[in-house]
Amino acid sequence: MAFKGKVVLITGAGSGIGAAAAKAFSRLSAGLALVDKNENGLKKTLEQCEKADQDHLIIVADLSKSSEVLSVVPRTLAHFGRIDVLVNCAGIMSEEKMTDEDVSANFDAVIGINLRTPVILTNKATPYLIETRGSIVNISSIRSTRPCDKRSMYCVSKAGLEMFTKCVALDLADRGVRANSIHPGVVRTNIQFSYNPEATPDAHYAASSKKFPFGVTEPEEVAQLVVFLASSETARTITGAAYYIDGGQSLMETRSLAGKF
Ligand SMILES: NC(=O)c1ccc[n+]([C@@H]2O[C@H](COP(=O)([O-])OP(=O)(O)OC[C@H]3O[C@@H](n4cnc5c(N)ncnc54)[C@H](O)[C@@H]3O)[C@@H](O)[C@H]2O)c1
Repeated sequence: MAFKGKVVLITGAGSGIGAAAAKAFSRLSAGLALVDKNENGLKKTLEQCEKADQDHLIIVADLSKSSEVLSVVPRTLAHFGRIDVLVNCAGIMSEEKMTDEDVSANFDAVIGINLRTPVILTNKATPYLIETRGSIVNISSIRSTRPCDKRSMYCVSKAGLEMFTKCVALDLADRGVRANSIHPGVVRTNIQFSYNPEATPDAHYAASSKKFPFGVTEPEEVAQLVVFLASSETARTITGAAYYIDGGQSLMETRSLAGKF
């Protein structure tokens, strides 16, 4: 699987799964356009990428702002002149209940980053993905199909992203572009703690590790799946698919509900 001469655009590349995907693609000689609002995170990711004869671009952009989302594809093209793979990975979580007085701010924020941004980036990248017969990998979640209390906005955003992926796969199939989604369970990254500073990562992951048959997933393991789906060598006929990578979490949730009602 080689990506030499190809260009991979990754959002959320400043940490976690996006950063791991950047490193995985760089090991396969891809040129990278790395997007995040966290400049320090992007610099750190870049330092950990392979360097020899590689040309990578950092795009510091706050994807909650339309104008910054719209700048991503033109900046990538100005630098590389092509896009082969789009990985929509940037995401946020929030906590809310329907008994809260007003959930509209959470709705706008979560849908904005987790769904609107992938839609707009896909739309703007489509002509260039058609030129390269490229592919799209969207990072959804097991929450796209499995509800979670206090996470309605997150679950809805990830369900939307799964359906969007399937629709795009259908739309672009006759143009040679594939689109797939990945649905992680618990991955060892910062996302769980960005909105809940009181939670302690070590305790959280230690507890999660014991809950599922194969425990917590590492970001590098998700990254391998991203690369597999992005490559036309390994995934030439895979499109519109939703891949779960969750240590068996979704199986356990099904079991724990059995007989409850
Ligand atoms: N970690 C998990 O357990 C898990 C489970 C299921 C799905 N996911 C999904 O994986 C994706 C990656 O998350 P992660 O786990 O690597 O978490 P993370 O917090 O480590 O990475 C998310 C990245 O998105 C960036 N980002 C957030 N808001 C942004 C904005 N407005 N503009 C630009 N960049 C922004 C952050 O700066 C960060 O670098 C997300 O879409 C998340 O929903 C994660």
